[in-house]
This record gives sequence, C-alpha cells and structure tokens, in this order.
Amino acid sequence: MSGSSTGGSLTVSLEGGRTATLPLQDGTIGPQVADIRKLHDQLGVFTYDPGYGNTASCLSRITYIDGDKGVLLYRGYPIEQLAEKSTFLEVAYLLLNGELPNAEQKQDFEHGVLHHNMVHEQIRSFYNGFRRDAHPMAVICSVVGAMSAFYSDSLDITNPEHRRIAAFRLIAKLPTIAAWAYKYSVGEPFMYPRNDLGYAENFLHMMYSVPPEAYRINPVLARAFDRILILHADHEQNASTSTVRLAGSTGVNPFVCVSAGIASLWGPAHGGANEAVLKMLTQIGSVANIKDFIAKVKDKNSGVRLMGFGHRVYKNYDPRAKIMQKTCYEVLQELGIKDDPLLDLAMELEKIALEDDYFVSRKLYPNVDFYSGIILKAMGFPTSMFTVLFAMARTVGWFAQWKEQVEDPAQRIGRPRQLYIGAPRRDYVPLDQRG
Ligand code: ACO
Repeated sequence: MSGSSTGGSLTVSLEGGRTATLPLQDGTIGPQVADIRKLHDQLGVFTYDPGYGNTASCLSRITYIDGDKGVLLYRGYPIEQLAEKSTFLEVAYLLLNGELPNAEQKQDFEHGVLHHNMVHEQIRSFYNGFRRDAHPMAVICSVVGAMSAFYSDSLDITNPEHRRIAAFRLIAKLPTIAAWAYKYSVGEPFMYPRNDLGYAENFLHMMYSVPPEAYRINPVLARAFDRILILHADHEQNASTSTVRLAGSTGVNPFVCVSAGIASLWGPAHGGANEAVLKMLTQIGSVANIKDFIAKVKDKNSGVRLMGFGHRVYKNYDPRAKIMQKTCYEVLQELGIKDDPLLDLAMELEKIALEDDYFVSRKLYPNVDFYSGIILKAMGFPTSMFTVLFAMARTVGWFAQWKEQVEDPAQRIGRPRQLYIGAPRRDYVPLDQRG
C-alpha cells in the first residue's frame, strides 16, 4: 500500500544552511502529509510530537474524519447514511472488506458471525476466578486475551483463513463474553446465545433473559442498540486503535491485540467517558447546580472536565453525537419516559456550554459519549457496562485496522523515538561515596 504524490515537497533547513527536502503525499481527501522518513538520515534530527497529534502513523483506507467540518466516513460512506440505512453486521462487513456486501455475501457473513457466538465451555470457569464486584472491563480484557489460549487454530496471522476465522470469533463472541461479565456480577445464570436472533437482539437476550423467562425483545430498542454499535464501530487512529496496531506490529495474534485495545479504551479520556458523563450528571444533580459546575470546569486548578465534551480531532459537533441525541429521544419515547431528569440536565448543560466563551473559543463540542449514557441507562444497562458495549462495537474497527496492517507489506514494528531529557552519561558511585 502506498500514498500518491503530486510532486510537492516540504523543505526543512537547519541553522548553518543544511536542508532536507521532504516529499508531500496526498490522500484521497484531507490534508497532505510530509513524509519524514528520510529526515534523520538527511539532517540527523527526529520530530517531537507528544500525543501524535500531527503524525500520520500509517496509510489507511478504512475511516476518514474531517474534524473541522464534523465529517465521519466509513470506507467513504457518511456515518449518517449508515446509521439510518444499514445494520451493524453489514457495517462490520464493509469495514473489514472495503465494500458493502451483495445479498449472498451478506447472508454468508451474518451466518458466519452468528454461528461463532458460543465460547469454549472452559472459558466459563474463568469467570468464577473474578470477584463479583470486578469491573466488567477488567473481566472482558482478561477473557478476550485468554481466547488466544483456546483458539490456536486461528493464530497464524500470515494465513488469510486464520484471519477470517479470528474475525468471526472475535466479533461473534464479544457479546457473549460481555453479557456473561454482567450476569456474573449480578449472580444470574449465564444465558447462551441463540442463532435465530440478530446480533443486537442476541446480546439483549443474553443480558436480560433468565432461564424461567425469556426477555421480550423490543424491536425499537434493538434497532437503537444496533445503531449505537454502528456509531462506535471505528474511528481511525484513536488511542485504542493505535494500541491495537502497535501491539499487532510485533506480529502477535489478534486476540491479545484486541485485549490491549480494550485496556486502552477503558480510560476516562477515551471510552470510559460515557460512564463518566453519567456519573457527572448524577453528581450535578439539578439544573440549578450547572452554573457552579461550569465554574469548576473553567477553573484549571480544579481538575474537573466537562465529560462528553471535546475531542482530539473534532473541532466541531461530533456527527455521532447528533445521531445519538436523536436516538436518545426515540428510546425515551418508546419506553414512555416523558421527563428524564438526566436528559433535561444534559440538554441544559449542552446549551450553556455551547454559548460559553470558554468552550466556544476552544472549539469544545459534545462528543459521541455525551448522550449515549442516557440511552444505555434507559435501556437498563448498568453504568459499568457502558464502556463494555463500546468495546463490543469497536472490536470490528480494531480487527479491520489490525488486518489492514498485517496485509500491508510496508508494515514495520512500531517503535517511536524520544527526546531524552534525563541525566547525561555518568559513572557509577559506590554506596559509601553517595551524599
Ligand atoms: N472540559 C473542559 N476543558 C476541556 C475539555 C473538557 N471536556 N476538553 C478539553 N478542554 C480544554 C483543555 O483544558 C485545554 O484548555 P487550555 O488550552 O486552556 O489548556 C483545551 O481545552 C485543549 O484540551 P486538550 O486536553 O489539549 O485536548 P486533547 O485533544 O488533548 O483532549 C479529550 C481531547 C481527551 C477528549 C478532552 O477533550 C477531554 O478530556 N474530554 C473529556 C473526556 C471525553 O469526553 N472523552 C471522550 C472522547 S471521545 C471518545 O473517546 C469516544
């Protein structure tokens, strides 16, 4: 895989007159990228970019974001169209394979995923080793990593068939693994997956059915949940995806790469934000307290952030947040929730923040997590499961990105450099001579 070049270049010069000419590469859309691979050879310097905010770490054909315009495309298709017209499994096929499936491909893919949803029975015993109050992210991070100890017939990353089966296994088993983490925490028996149900429906069944009584699946809620999965399926080179790619660059199997992605996603600055939003709304408590809360957020010494606001890439409304807000109304209406105090609070908070110069000047807008927690809570998910649901959806994106990397002949082990600011070389001082 290689980017194209229109022949443009960037010239960098050091004091003393030495210069390097760096080729500029063009993507299909988006800004040009200066290819700095020969910079060190030519000038003996590296670049410094903490947080990689200005560094393209790979060439990718999967997802495109224009953060200034609030655009998100999966394989070229706008997220709004996919959320409205597609399904999560169709989007999964698209992300993995590059094109929307035809009718036969769609059927084969869905059949493949739905028929890999059982987990090895011995995996069940893992759960008994955890405390009942363990965070489900800790549980799924461990169980997904442990899949590499159970599915040794899909660990050869150089074999396309192994990669295909590993994709089915991860996408199909994540809902089972996630729902069991929940069941274990509430002391209910594990429910096995059912092949007659769709992906979202099956997950709701495994979460909420109990042996004496099957959960009656509400199609509006199942569709809303499927849409939430679509919105979270991929987001180009974010922290967890970059973690998956970095782990994968060493040649390790995809099960542990996804486990590493889950670990990275757990943080409150990333996937843990939807859980944090709900905690924040509960802490604020009422519209009357918003003013004091906003004052705290603006005070740099308080360490308080407005969770669900701001994004490294979006400097405009996150397009997923708009769809999430609409879905939130649909779900609350379906459930007959006329007045949800948390939704009222969220809407007022959003209104105030969008008019406040602190947020406006820093281009801080609601992100995907601002409304998702309210929907998930209304659907009966405990707060601790929010990030787990995100991980379920993002497993598709992680796998697609991992697969793209493995199939790219130019792929190398990921190995950033550093700007060393520690002690220069010095000699060891024996203990009796130290001050
Ligand atoms: N509340 C208050 N101030 C904020 C917020 C926020 N949520 N986000 C950024 N800022 C401020 C920073 O204090 C900083 O101000 P300064 O220039 O005066 O120092 C400025 O905006 C830029 O912030 P950075 O931290 O440099 O932005 P960065 O791109 O590194 O961070 C992040 C992005 C981590 C998402 C941040 O906006 C944040 O912490 N948001 C809250 C957590 C959240 O919602 N995360 C979910 C992200 S979406 C996802 O992962 C699915």
